Amino acid sequence: MHSAIITGTGVFTPENVITNEELVESYNAFVDRFNAAHEEEIVAGEVAERTHSSADFIREASGIEQRYVMNKDGVLDPTRMFPRLDARADDAPGLMAEMGVHAIQTALAQAGRAPEDVDLILCAASNHERAYPAIAVEIQELLGAGGFAFDMNVACSSATFGLQTAADMVRTGSVKCAIVVSPEICSAHLEWRDRDCHFIFGDVATAMVVEREEDGKSGFRIRSTRCVTKFSNNIRNNNGFLRRTHDQMEDRRDMQFMQNGRKVFKEVLPMVSTHIANHMEHEQVQAGDLKRLWLHQANKTMNDYIGKKVLGREPEAGEQPNILQDYANTSSAGSIIAFSKYSDDMAPGDVGLLCSFGAGYSVGSAVLERV
Ligand code: COA
Repeated sequence: MHSAIITGTGVFTPENVITNEELVESYNAFVDRFNAAHEEEIVAGEVAERTHSSADFIREASGIEQRYVMNKDGVLDPTRMFPRLDARADDAPGLMAEMGVHAIQTALAQAGRAPEDVDLILCAASNHERAYPAIAVEIQELLGAGGFAFDMNVACSSATFGLQTAADMVRTGSVKCAIVVSPEICSAHLEWRDRDCHFIFGDVATAMVVEREEDGKSGFRIRSTRCVTKFSNNIRNNNGFLRRTHDQMEDRRDMQFMQNGRKVFKEVLPMVSTHIANHMEHEQVQAGDLKRLWLHQANKTMNDYIGKKVLGREPEAGEQPNILQDYANTSSAGSIIAFSKYSDDMAPGDVGLLCSFGAGYSVGSAVLERV
């Protein structure tokens, strides 16, 4: 068996930023238009009046201050409230593939590898822009990589489940140099007209290079990974060909991200805490051994709770870095952004824990040691 290490990471950040204030201004304009257009039905009790959103609520409930998006004007147009991401011609690169390639180029440069060294690409993301051919195979072609490639989806845990898959293949020798890439265009599966969740998501792409340690590279040794799933409908997106055929897309709300946020909060927290405690026990890692926690980036209160539970005390500044204030929830990419941006200062022998959680439910974790 080989030892697997992460030798490079990359983050592609879209150019457009939407602040909470901009988001709320456009949402409230949409609400005013909606209420005016349905005034009679609202008075007759046939349609529910819509309520304004608030930037203060968003910051306090989630910790989010802004988000990056692939298209801004479509989202902020109160008559539209959806990104303008036109389908590309069949002979042009897809949007996910293009974002993924940007993130991979940064990760490969950090790893000191060329595309031809790569023999596996996993495109691990929450929503794929088409059913097939796999986005990962398109990325393989655009990069000029060899070997094979495939897509996988475990929602917010896609990247950590992808990391386990890649690391296991590197360990057993079926591949030598793998890439886990997570292009997350969350803006296209978010209902921007739903006050309960319109602030939650942003767009990004992340990539990790996973290789054999004995190939003489430095990076983060993947000491072990753990994945767990337990079915729940509390976070879901029912979009799919069966629904589309039967419902003719009329019930659009059902075809995008939906969640019962309160239930998610209550049910996922104990699941994550238990999962991390079990992983640490099996790996014989004590709280005092952990220099860093790179957690899923959905909600600040949630991360504060998990950080305190894992370490047995309030995390000190920098021990449990959050990026959600800048990026919002970027699904599976969130913990990888935190890892990519907050790991350079770690010394050889330092240990950290990467952990994602979300729809499924799913939890994926990795104990990483700087080498
Ligand atoms: N602006 C202003 N007020 C809002 C609002 C908005 N955009 N959205 C909701 N509210 C109001 C509600 O109407 C409610 O008011 P009420 O008490 O008078 O009825 C109040 O704020 C609380 O709403 P609630 O939805 O219960 O908020 P919350 O405190 O649970 O926070 C989340 C909402 C989504 C931030 C939180 O539940 C969460 O983070 N859950 C887990 C999310 C998660 O990890 N999901 C994984 C996704 S991959």
